Amino acid sequence: MSEIKNCRKIADLISEAANKLKDFSETPRLDAEILLAKVLGIDRFGLFAKTCETAGDEKCRLFDSFVGRRINFEPVAYITNEKEFFEDLFFVDERVLIPRPESEFIVEEAVSLLKNAVKPEVLDICCGSGCIGLSIRRVTGCSLTLSDISGKALEVARINASRLFPNQAGISFFQSDLFENITGKFDLITANPPYLSESDMREFVVKDLKFEPENAFYGGRNGFEITEKIIESAGNFLKPGGFFITELGYEGSAFLKETMSGLELLKTLKDYSGMTRTAVFRKISENH
Ligand SMILES: C[S@@+](CC[C@H](N)C(=O)[O-])C[C@H]1O[C@@H](n2cnc3c(N)ncnc32)[C@H](O)[C@@H]1O
Repeated sequence: MSEIKNCRKIADLISEAANKLKDFSETPRLDAEILLAKVLGIDRFGLFAKTCETAGDEKCRLFDSFVGRRINFEPVAYITNEKEFFEDLFFVDERVLIPRPESEFIVEEAVSLLKNAVKPEVLDICCGSGCIGLSIRRVTGCSLTLSDISGKALEVARINASRLFPNQAGISFFQSDLFENITGKFDLITANPPYLSESDMREFVVKDLKFEPENAFYGGRNGFEITEKIIESAGNFLKPGGFFITELGYEGSAFLKETMSGLELLKTLKDYSGMTRTAVFRKISENH
């Protein structure tokens, strides 16, 4: 006797999963749709044309396992191994921070600052998945150095670089504690460094951020220690008039001064919640 397949309707799969997830996620239906779209190998909007169709046994089982992982609070991006950032889809797993929308401000600002630059050279320090530097390269065609202290994060950055730029000419990778192994001068340096303070760590990492690598978060007691170290050295690695853009933590703006270690603060940018999230500096010329 042939095995009776346990097919379930797509509309039912979504609503049952959304119902299961409602106590575990702030976006239960969206999560269910993204996870099911991944299982079916289509995009989320493709799902809406298929709500009356059914999914077979194997796909239903995979979907149930994805929903189970989400109930255990695993981020959707680690379950699907992908996250949209700026104009691309990045591969992510637990070796790297999941790119956040607020970091796109760094990319937008970088693209604007480099709009007249010819063959600019960019360093993305603390690169994680490489999302910031690779997005800047996508628009400006810059040559790019990606660096991170974590060899595992660099493995993921390499995956993304090879997916987005199959001919990787002009992209180099350095495992480096901040600038330790970096040489050369750049037109622009970007950083999204770890910036949570001790109290932020107690508040967030235990619950919301427990799946992501801890060294992506802790920025020293006050949260600004790593950022400050980067600011202290960035000028040595910038060409005259070069720019440095960094993301800031919750208290980060309180540590900013008009001039810092040979850099002048050009402006700060607020994120979608109105918090000062990004600082833009320019190297002060030596004849100033
Ligand atoms: C907040 S994550 C940012 C990742 C990525 N740039 C993004 O925006 O998604 C910070 C990154 O800094 C790296 N990191 C931590 N301490 C570092 C150090 N001393 N030197 C270089 N990288 C460091 C971590 O491994 C992590 O990948």
